[in-house]
Amino acid sequence: MIQVKNLTKHYGPRRAIHNLNFSIEKGDVVGFLGPNGAGKSTTMKIITGFMAPSSGEASVAGYDVFVNPIEVKKHIGYLPETPPVYSDMYVREYLQYVAALKQVPKSKIEKYVDNAIDKTHLGDVQKRLIGHLSKGFKQRVGIAQAIVSDPEILILDEPTVGLDPKQVAEIRDLIKELKGQHTIILSTHILPEVQATCEKIIIIHHGEIVAQDSIHNLAMMDKGKSRLRIRLRKDAENLHSVLSEINQVISVKAGTSAKDWEIDLQGGDEVVDAISSSIVAKGYGLVELSPSKIDLEDVFLKLTYGEQGGEA
Ligand SMILES: Nc1ncnc2c1ncn2[C@@H]1O[C@H](COP(=O)(O)OP(=O)(O)O)[C@@H](O)[C@H]1O
Ligand SMILES: [Mg+2]
Repeated sequence: MIQVKNLTKHYGPRRAIHNLNFSIEKGDVVGFLGPNGAGKSTTMKIITGFMAPSSGEASVAGYDVFVNPIEVKKHIGYLPETPPVYSDMYVREYLQYVAALKQVPKSKIEKYVDNAIDKTHLGDVQKRLIGHLSKGFKQRVGIAQAIVSDPEILILDEPTVGLDPKQVAEIRDLIKELKGQHTIILSTHILPEVQATCEKIIIIHHGEIVAQDSIHNLAMMDKGKSRLRIRLRKDAENLHSVLSEINQVISVKAGTSAKDWEIDLQGGDEVVDAISSSIVAKGYGLVELSPSKIDLEDVFLKLTYGEQGGEA
């Protein structure tokens, strides 16, 4: 449905994205995840046909986005980073206008607009001026204009940014309702957003893809590793060197004091036994030792901020 090959974009001397490769199948719900400045919006603007890349290719529903941007736009509903809000239009009037722009046949416009209003729960405000709506409602209008022509593909660029928690939850619910009806790309810098709505993730950092997989597989990337939190009776400034003698210990980090530590290790109970024996032998006094989970958050942080992320 969407194919991207060696896509690169420079803004003058600044490299925004570099050699991106990915493909998205019909019906996929994909999270395009990365910190601010990673290159998400740049990628979205290119695959929606709104901006040309410096090099590389992208196609949507079989159409090259540069050769056939008009065909591409027919297949895509796009909520840009800065939603196109026409403050002085009424909600319904605006959606009729967008439907006409997207070449919905005249006889079907009312039906399509009703449908978009229903799905985004805008019925009560359809006769109000967009400029008078709250930010959350304006964002729903943004989503309504994206879906009004019933496109196969929806591309939503940071749809919950700047909303309050209740509005965020409402928009996430709305996206969940749209699943199964469209192929969806959701760009965001917030991991829980992806976890709440998507099945696949593409992680982008400094303009490069650092991971792409199902949420399940990414969460399992650190399988076999586990983390221990320990609390000692005495300060143990040199715990680091004490435990570095155990091969399976990956990292030893101090918490709020030299009594609290976080240890990442590769292996099972035998490694935990070796760690506790070593601590006891040194006379630090083991007060507490508890396992904690390494989860997707850790994987994401490591890929984007950690040692593997690096500078582009
Ligand atoms: N119009 C522009 N001119 C120059 N640099 C830009 C422009 N738009 C984005 N950039 C830069 O390109 C990089 C990627 O930006 P962007 O695609 O907006 O990232 P994201 O959406 O992930 O926050 C950033 O370093 C940003 O500063
Ligand atoms: Mg952006």
